[in-house]
Amino acid sequence: MMMTNSETLRVDLNDRSYDIIVGANLIPNAGEHIPQFVKRDPAIIVTDVNVAELHLENIVKSLQEANITSKTILLPAGENTKSYEGFCELLNDILDTGIERRSCLIALGGGVIGDITGFAASVLLRGIDFIQIPTTLLAQVDSSVGGKTGINTQHGKNLVGSFYQPRLVLADTTVLDTLPRRELLAGYSEIVKYGLLGDRPFFEWLEENGHSLIEGDEELRRKAIVTSCSAKASIVAQDEKESGSRALLNLGHTFGHALEAETGFGDKLLHGEAVSIGMTMAFDLSARMGLCSTEDAARVRKHLNVVGLPVDPTNIAGQSWKCDALLSHMAKDKKVRDGKMTFILPRGIGDSFITSDVDLALVEAMLDDAIAA
Ligand code: NAD
Ligand code: GLY
Repeated sequence: MMMTNSETLRVDLNDRSYDIIVGANLIPNAGEHIPQFVKRDPAIIVTDVNVAELHLENIVKSLQEANITSKTILLPAGENTKSYEGFCELLNDILDTGIERRSCLIALGGGVIGDITGFAASVLLRGIDFIQIPTTLLAQVDSSVGGKTGINTQHGKNLVGSFYQPRLVLADTTVLDTLPRRELLAGYSEIVKYGLLGDRPFFEWLEENGHSLIEGDEELRRKAIVTSCSAKASIVAQDEKESGSRALLNLGHTFGHALEAETGFGDKLLHGEAVSIGMTMAFDLSARMGLCSTEDAARVRKHLNVVGLPVDPTNIAGQSWKCDALLSHMAKDKKVRDGKMTFILPRGIGDSFITSDVDLALVEAMLDDAIAA
């Protein structure tokens, strides 16, 4: 059996608390961590075709060695899977396996698989257990932790879903070696977000180590994932259902979602790429409002740019932008409250806050300049 070198964190949510284990080769050793959560055979693994090809055999084998049988449900890869139709099909496929209340689902994949499987777990038989085994960097540092589950509708992304916590998160850093570089960078953007919203020393550490981490240094990857997950875990423990401080996790997302909506939530602009541009915009707006220094705004832009992430809408080839269209997407965002847009703005690197007190003329001027850049 391969050696694992791992760290464990706890998400503290009373009877819904759970561990996040981060380390190398956790999937081929899943049988060491999972058995206590699989109270009824078989475990139902939900994955997508890309991940199945690369990593499914390792987990099935390891579960077998731990005397756990499994059945696998294969879904198409990509955002379109998170649809009403995809969801109904998944529910039927899971029910076809003959689950009972003590059955356990295992989500093996990126955020798409984690979100749809978690949502299925939350409604099947009025709630069964599920485990997250995130295989993208974005899923390891964000979507697998905190219990947001859901699917997309014609009215927008993630508009139907639930808060439903997993029983365990296993983040295997080794699987990141097979992840396309563009996906890896998109996940890195969410890592930078944790530094920007509340941890300046972590951002400075990323300035030093981001390049090596992206290039594959396992220890640095583990440290970045652990730091990110512990930041998210502590915010989620304070505000599980986003009635207050959890909204800080949306730094860069108000602008980012508008950019994604305009590009059709497809391959043209990945979520993490949109967040990178959105965080740059949040710092720019904040600097224009006199809330944060232009030096900090420039430093954020420089780091994201240097690692290879887009920082301006004009970095997206073949897309034209209109300020009005972006503002109209922002006005429809989930974060709008009593008709007012909510912004997460920085006072500087490592110090962000939530506000709806923003002069829209400044937002418009910032967007106009960004799409002309
Ligand atoms: P994804 O799940 O679509 O995965 C991206 C691509 O990488 C897919 O083609 C997948 O097959 C492939 N892949 C996954 N792991 C791989 C690996 N190890 N090697 C090679 N290929 C691999 O995308 P994502 O970026 O992980 O997640 C995006 C989704 O997450 C969106 O639907 C978004 O709404 C959701 N999300 C949810 C939350 C939350 O809190 N629940 C937070 C952020 C994003
Ligand atoms: N991705 C933001 C959240 O989980 O709240």
